[in-house]
Amino acid sequence: MTERVKSLIFRLEREQSLPEREYAELIRDRDEEAAALLARLASEKRRAVFGDAVYTRGLIEISSICKNNCLYCGIRRDNILAERYRLTPEEILACADEGHALGFRTFVLQGGEDPFYTDEVLCGIVRQLKERHPDCAVTLSVGERSRESYQALREAGADRYLLRHETADPDHYAKLHPREMSFDNRMRCLRDLKELGYQTGCGFMVGSPFQTPENLAGDLKFIETFRPAMCGIGPFVPHRNTPFRDHAPGTAELTLFLLSVIRLMLPEVLLPATTALGTVLPRGREAGILAGANVVMPNLSPVRVRKKYELYDNKICTGEESAQCRDCLQQRMRSVGCFPAVDRGDAPGYTSAKKNGIINEGRKKHGKIRSEIPESGRIHQ
Ligand code: 5AD
Ligand code: FES
Repeated sequence: MTERVKSLIFRLEREQSLPEREYAELIRDRDEEAAALLARLASEKRRAVFGDAVYTRGLIEISSICKNNCLYCGIRRDNILAERYRLTPEEILACADEGHALGFRTFVLQGGEDPFYTDEVLCGIVRQLKERHPDCAVTLSVGERSRESYQALREAGADRYLLRHETADPDHYAKLHPREMSFDNRMRCLRDLKELGYQTGCGFMVGSPFQTPENLAGDLKFIETFRPAMCGIGPFVPHRNTPFRDHAPGTAELTLFLLSVIRLMLPEVLLPATTALGTVLPRGREAGILAGANVVMPNLSPVRVRKKYELYDNKICTGEESAQCRDCLQQRMRSVGCFPAVDRGDAPGYTSAKKNGIINEGRKKHGKIRSEIPESGRIHQ
């Protein structure tokens, strides 16, 4: 590692910010030693803020039907070979019930932009889920919608919303998306979500086609200034039935490096070690935690649909039951000295849990995040 790279890393740690061109320089000139230093500092930062707790979110993949046609995505509408499914509101609630019994207190409802889920339908699901499980947080990840729609969903009880910005460069955005999708609308959505009081998550794919170190520096600067509560990053993985089938996948190495940079930039951000990272590297999610991530998302979708929610090739966790997936991740977290936290795990500084009258142990920082997910067979009290 050059002295220059070392000084950039320490400055980032001290100031939680670098000029955009220096983010690009750090990325371009990185080496193994620089990555190790960054990971050590980022891990220390994660521990200082969250202790050894890793937040566990139950992921429910509600639909593989999508009206969009993003060039990278396996469930794009032009992929006539994709197997389509849609969970009914009853099936979604049943997944959440099972997840609740398994100890989860956050549910992430993620799906393609499926016109079936009108505001009326989706608000109904959110309302019922919150009614049945008032101690839980609901995260939505169902793409671009109108401000009115986001507002209605928020009023129905949704706490968080994930919408990756995908890239902060409008020209790069245009290379990843069909003409009818717009960068400006994406940004409008993210602004609206934040203004409406959602804990908002943005993010991007690492190594997406045509991405340059300058693009990544732009992504980092965007994240630094947008200050999301959550940030989802994972490697791009090609899908065989998309226009990007022949593009190289993103690397675990660069993904881990960027996770560390983001942790130093935003010490309190909720940062998942993603399924995509676990797909390109066998112990990728464990490595993600060691690089500064603090969230994992075991799959709670019904096993019969899991292979159908195929955003990219070779996705892991598609054969296991929810309890197996939970246990597997629990083991994996323990193997890196962490424990899975069961409370809602709001982003520090967000008060929605308090407003709802729920005492959230997780927000008392520095190791006070309590109680593990119960072992199989035991029901969480
Ligand atoms: N590889 C990795 N991630 C992908 N996503 C979509 N397609 C792929 C792919 N081929 C990510 C996008 C999207 C999120 C739900 O999944 O970033 O926002
Ligand atoms: Fe899902 Fe291992 S984490 S099966």
